[in-house]
Amino acid sequence: MRNIIIDCDPGHDDVIAFLVALANQEELNILGITTVAGNQTLTKVTNNILKVQDYLGVHIPVSMGYSTPLVKELDVQPQAHGATGMDGPQIPEPHSKPTGMHAIEFMKKTLMEAEDKVTMVCIGPLTNMGLFLKTYPELREKIDCIAIMGGGINRGNTLIKAEFNIYHDPDAAKIVFDSGIKVVMAPLEVCYAASILLTETEKFAEGGKVSRFVYDLMKFYQGYAIRNGWDRTAIFDAVPVTWLIHPEFFTAEEYEVYIETDGRYCRGMTVVDTRGYKGELKNPKTVLVDADREKFIEFLFKCINKLDRIYA
Ligand code: BDR
Ligand code: CA
Repeated sequence: MRNIIIDCDPGHDDVIAFLVALANQEELNILGITTVAGNQTLTKVTNNILKVQDYLGVHIPVSMGYSTPLVKELDVQPQAHGATGMDGPQIPEPHSKPTGMHAIEFMKKTLMEAEDKVTMVCIGPLTNMGLFLKTYPELREKIDCIAIMGGGINRGNTLIKAEFNIYHDPDAAKIVFDSGIKVVMAPLEVCYAASILLTETEKFAEGGKVSRFVYDLMKFYQGYAIRNGWDRTAIFDAVPVTWLIHPEFFTAEEYEVYIETDGRYCRGMTVVDTRGYKGELKNPKTVLVDADREKFIEFLFKCINKLDRIYA
């Protein structure tokens, strides 16, 4: 059993990643959720995860983190996630409240109390994680791995060469990537390799309460792919969570990765050293480079169907 904290900015794909974790609690012990501004404002993304939990009757503690990146201005993503950050499903506003503890104080308390090490699953901008490591460096010993959705090997999405989560707070990402803690990175390439076909999402409409909720999420979320003429869409944040449970679905390589914090065109780029020169790597990251799409999608449906049975 692996202890995890999910640091996120929900966000359609963040919510699906959360559902995958929720469906696998025999393997993933979710100690808490921390939120960070990214896809939408901190208030909105926190509201979204509380809403989802209330809808299912799940109450994992949610702690709010930073409302802006370290240095940059806040730059939200309504084009992908809508005005609320989770447009699509019509579910009631939440009654539950966040813990009242700041995300990094929640991380501190949880790590101090944990008997075993904790995996940090970071699927939003890395502001909370970076500032946690700066503020409480002594607690890094309690982290066994930071599993990240972020960056690209050769490409970006928000900028030509910068992926949204890293682009949004490159300064925080640099702290995390330079920390020396084991980082597992799910870049854009592996997420695209694991994409769901737009035709496949139709199957969610036939399922139970959770499937239909996912269907409503996907109907809005895949609008971005449709507008771009694509036949599939990546559910980015579900990739690192799935890797925790089924690493055999993925191909991984060890690469040094540096974060570009300056640059006219490339601020927020993950500079991945794929040159393959011989010699010892200084601070390698485990970079997921490919995925077995069929297995990933089959597993996703299995998780959501399982939740249909639990949260009928
Ligand atoms: C990442 O950016 C957000 O839009 C998604 O939630 C994901 O974490 C993909 O670039
Ligand atoms: Ca996200």
